[in-house]
Amino acid sequence: MASPRIRKAIFPVAGLGTRFLPATKAVPKEMLTVVDRPVIQHVVDEAKAAGVDQFVFVTGRNKGAIEDHFDYQFELERTLLERGKDKERIALAHDQPGAGNASFTRQQMPLGLGHAVWCARELIGHEPFALLLPDMLHHAKTPCLATMMAAYEKTGGNVVAVSPVPEDQTHLYGIVGVEDARQGISRITTMIEKPPQGTAPSNLHITGRYILDPEIFEILAEQEPGAGGEVQLTDAMVALMQRQPFHAVTFDGDIYDCGSKIGFLAANIAYALERSDLRGALRSEIDRLTSSTKL
Ligand code: G1P
Repeated sequence: MASPRIRKAIFPVAGLGTRFLPATKAVPKEMLTVVDRPVIQHVVDEAKAAGVDQFVFVTGRNKGAIEDHFDYQFELERTLLERGKDKERIALAHDQPGAGNASFTRQQMPLGLGHAVWCARELIGHEPFALLLPDMLHHAKTPCLATMMAAYEKTGGNVVAVSPVPEDQTHLYGIVGVEDARQGISRITTMIEKPPQGTAPSNLHITGRYILDPEIFEILAEQEPGAGGEVQLTDAMVALMQRQPFHAVTFDGDIYDCGSKIGFLAANIAYALERSDLRGALRSEIDRLTSSTKL
């Protein structure tokens, strides 16, 4: 039987963004821009490119700008129309989710990623869904989620994107153990959230892209707090692994952790260097800055 199509994606956007204070005092961290698009827009673009058309945001206090960003801005549209700025108007319309296609719910307490995902259960219902962690920008010719969808069509079940990290960083992530690696897809045999240094089953970290069966919600409802005292999605996936297959797709593009300053700055440079309108001038600026004797 063919696997059901993935129509819905969850974007957990409730995090406080303390690492980016004071920038994130009044602006959600997901609204910080990589070149001229908010981080969250880049991640929604990835989901769209994979065929998702229902966008579920798990927000929190002070995240209203995200909702506004994905809404129709009547005054702005009108002004662009009057001024003949058709290119900008069409681009905005292209980024706009259709009526009723964006939903927002709140994670009222910061109890962990597993809890944030569980908060979306009523909006997802009984169908498999994608989950994209907005801090992690995945940059590749074929968007990560699209590659995962192709794998999911072959394997069904649950699919998680992974990529290698240096051994001394495995304690910072969810780590998987795998077998039967074939054409970038392997069966996951074990998973652990933030293993103490020296105990990781491999160096393959969970990158923040998932395709999950809705049965995960039943497990999350009962899930006890794990690493860091938070309800961990990885712990719930370990429980679901007893009942359903999990496969790993090795992502071979670049990942920028926009929750960290260096990742965020690197993402800005990488995405700008791809743009023909910015590449030349940015290269000159970088050359000038890096060759400066003041550095
Ligand atoms: C979360 C997940 C972890 C994953 C990571 C990717 O951790 O729990 O499994 O490897 O995202 O960024 P967090 O970064 O929220 O601590």
